[in-house]
Amino acid sequence: MAEARVVHTVDRRLGSRQLAALLTGTAGEHPGYRALAHGVRTLLLDGRIPLHTRLPAERELAAALSVSRATVTAAYDVLREGGYALSRRGAGTWTELPEGQRPSNVAAFPAGNDLIELASAAPGAPEPELMAALAAAGSMLAEHAPTPGYHPYGIPELRAAVAERFTRRGLPTLPDQILITTGAQHALSLMLSLLGRQGDRVLVENPSYPNALDAIRDAGLRAVPVPVTEDGWESDLVESSLRQTAPRIAYLVPDFQNPTGSLMPREQRVRILETARATGTWLLIDETIADIALDVPPPAPFASLAPQGVGEQVVTVGSLSKSHWGGLRIGWVRAGSRLITELATKRVPSDMATPVIEQLVALHLLRGVDDVLRERLPRLRAQRDALASSLTRHLPEWRWQLPPGGLSLWVDLGRPVASALAGAALGHGVRIEGGSRFGADPGTHEHRLRIPYVLPAELLEQAVVRLAAALAGDLRGTGEVAGRRHWVA
Ligand SMILES: Cc1ncc(COP(=O)(O)O)c(C=O)c1O
Repeated sequence: MAEARVVHTVDRRLGSRQLAALLTGTAGEHPGYRALAHGVRTLLLDGRIPLHTRLPAERELAAALSVSRATVTAAYDVLREGGYALSRRGAGTWTELPEGQRPSNVAAFPAGNDLIELASAAPGAPEPELMAALAAAGSMLAEHAPTPGYHPYGIPELRAAVAERFTRRGLPTLPDQILITTGAQHALSLMLSLLGRQGDRVLVENPSYPNALDAIRDAGLRAVPVPVTEDGWESDLVESSLRQTAPRIAYLVPDFQNPTGSLMPREQRVRILETARATGTWLLIDETIADIALDVPPPAPFASLAPQGVGEQVVTVGSLSKSHWGGLRIGWVRAGSRLITELATKRVPSDMATPVIEQLVALHLLRGVDDVLRERLPRLRAQRDALASSLTRHLPEWRWQLPPGGLSLWVDLGRPVASALAGAALGHGVRIEGGSRFGADPGTHEHRLRIPYVLPAELLEQAVVRLAAALAGDLRGTGEVAGRRHWVA
């Protein structure tokens, strides 16, 4: 029996001029039908055309590209044959992905000590500082031990310290504008469930941080992807998507975006703030990676650019996971104090509060944050450069740009083999995610790999050697893992 196929709503459309502009970079001027089909497929896999988007009518696209209508008809046929498009009489032609190219189930962790972990872009803890903070937390525990220890808003001293850091970074903040959470991930899902209702639209970057995309889906919200590359965001596209779809929320990672590493310029931030004000969209700004500024001064908080009256529409989440350690599970939300009260009420039924001991450790780590970053950033810079030179040596055909900050390279493999390569890499002792895990539309970004540089240079060199060996092997035999999903951070 043929397997039933999920029918998707096709409620996005791509104008002929918009597609023609995108195609000039990939298919060239006046393309033949094969080049045209290849161009559309590349744009889809790269996430620059969203999945389930209606393509322009053949006649319109032919006119926009100055090619014959037969060329477009033949190109659409090629796309359909390859599984990259579907058509229905009266409904037109829309983008699709071949069945096998959709991420599906979660794979178990493979065992073994020799495995090099490249699926997480999360550094280990700064050990002496963590031990010292633990000791200091222990001595402060006496003050807390006689109390019940439930703090849905977070312990007052940590709320004050987080508020003080925002203020120091240029965004005056009071402690009652801060809620302490169990990591930024918790902060994100809390905010999504507080602000969003089933079926609401959420503007997201494509590619983006996979666990946020999953949280958006789990909350029953609909992602509206806008492309981001290592060259950044296209202001016009972000603004037109905001205006056309008036999403309830826009989830953005403006500081060293995960996975592209892009840093949003100030001017673009200001324009997004203005547009979001006009469309009544909440801006959910993820600053988890903001501290990892490698080649540029640390960016000021996004909300500090908000004019009077718009600030309330900006909600910022952050955490200690990248500046210190993900294992702490300490994050926060900064928002208006009324929203913070609603949030605290919302979190109680699920986890009551974040553990006091971890908050005390975080308090001490936060006091020494500048010292930790002074040591951490040069190391990451050196590891980033080491990874780049290993790639140049062993995989010279791969392309990437050095990001100004963040924890990973977003590498273009030149062909859509990332999932198969990730599957083969496991057999060579490297755990890594294919680019499609980061696609807002599952299955896109198949020619990309996110390679973190959080490990020492020698290990990165070994990992690259293993990836090169995996690539040189037979990727066809690994087809069955193309749909697997790993845990990533
Ligand atoms: C952009 C982004 N947001 C949130 C998180 C999750 O952070 P946390 O460990 O604080 O939950 C990550 C972790 O990788 C991330 O990259």
